[in-house]
Amino acid sequence: MSAFVINGGRRLSGSLRVQGSKNSVLPILAATVLISGKCTIHNCPRLSDTECTIKILRSLGCKVYRDGNSVTVDSTSISSSEISEELMREMRSSVVFLGAIIGRIGEAMVSAPGGCEIGLRPIDLHLYAVRKLGVDVEEGYGRIYCKVKNKLKGNKITFSFPSVGATENAILLSATAKGSTTIVNAAREPEIIDLCDFLNSCGAKISGAGESIITVEGVEKLSGCDHTVICDRIVSATYLIAAAVTGGDVELISANPNHLNSVLPLLEESGCDIRIRCKDVRLKAPMRLRRIDKIVTQPFPGFPTDAQALFTTLVSIADGTSVIVENIFESRFKHVPELVRMGARIRAEGRVAVVDGVDRLYGAEVFSPDLRGGAALVLAGLCANGVTKVRNTEYIDRGYEDFTDNLCMLNGDIIRKDISDGRAEKKEVKTRRN
Ligand code: EPU
Repeated sequence: MSAFVINGGRRLSGSLRVQGSKNSVLPILAATVLISGKCTIHNCPRLSDTECTIKILRSLGCKVYRDGNSVTVDSTSISSSEISEELMREMRSSVVFLGAIIGRIGEAMVSAPGGCEIGLRPIDLHLYAVRKLGVDVEEGYGRIYCKVKNKLKGNKITFSFPSVGATENAILLSATAKGSTTIVNAAREPEIIDLCDFLNSCGAKISGAGESIITVEGVEKLSGCDHTVICDRIVSATYLIAAAVTGGDVELISANPNHLNSVLPLLEESGCDIRIRCKDVRLKAPMRLRRIDKIVTQPFPGFPTDAQALFTTLVSIADGTSVIVENIFESRFKHVPELVRMGARIRAEGRVAVVDGVDRLYGAEVFSPDLRGGAALVLAGLCANGVTKVRNTEYIDRGYEDFTDNLCMLNGDIIRKDISDGRAEKKEVKTRRN
């Protein structure tokens, strides 16, 4: 049990290299199950969700070694097709193992996945895709049992919504199915492209990644490769907003601005000066942030739901009234009551929040409701007057590597405090600067 204790009011400045993408690395690690051989995944962040993925791989009989931020998986001797309920409950992306295990072994036993409670998060689209490729699905007593009827066979899969996870499962399952699969209304996120790049390096034949129609020509066999995961665009957005709300000046190295095309214009609308040089992005904050007219979450290339809570903090201290519409998840305003405790003026109802910017937030004891909501509270703490204690840090640890170290390196004043015995963790500022 730990909390982040933040002394607000310090201006963030400096430069930072952003971690590898959580939402890329999780399906890529799951995909290694499909491959009889060794794969090494570089730029793999140390997060509780990656550690859970490694636990799942080991429980299936894969050999996994970590060397710094490189993880090698050897799935040659995979021996199980079953993931325990306990591991399934630990995170949402456990469900992408479904396509990989069935693709490799012909059957899989899983249960409904856990993860942040930001909405109902059903898996009907995943199971639709699995069935379309010739798999029988039986559900009962909380478990889901899938078995290939005869052979995995390519087909046309038309999604009613471009679900990220369901698109990943459809790709994984069709990679070694017989014949051709067309995925219509596929998710277009950069993480989908990264997964397909990885699989193509292993010998898969996937085209159209990043577009609405993906075509997969099934191949007999995939073989191991080395792959470097893309930079995490939501973590990039987090540090940029941290700079924006503290009146700061921060440069992100190799942040890939193309992945931030829907985020950077909103930061400019709020008065921030954005400079792009190759893949580096620099943000200089204005004296006072301005309102953002409308923030509407949409599937990629639209504005990401994962950045919605972060922007709620930003507009909380902007001059004027901003409107936020959350279209992806039903319950993704749980950070709002916590921000209100810190002095924000926000009315949220259903999928809409109206934010009247205030001059300043005040430190308080708040609870992370989920991963991005928790990060939004840390940002609020960084710009608030006084001390903020953000509890439930385990949510934030799912997605942010070295969060306190990185913020301290940028001049933030934040420590992780063990609250089971009240002992403060040593503040270790890494020397990774610039
Ligand atoms: N949905 C269904 N049925 C399904 C699948 C999804 O109705 O079978 C609905 C969901 O309930 C939700 C919407 O479709 O309302 C979007 O869900 P999607 O499947 O696209 O999301 P996901 O795969 O569960 C990934 C990320 C999330 C991110 C979303 C949207 C991973 C591990 N997670 O989740 O990341 O918010 O895509 O971009 O890739 C985070 O990093 O904080 C996070 C929650």
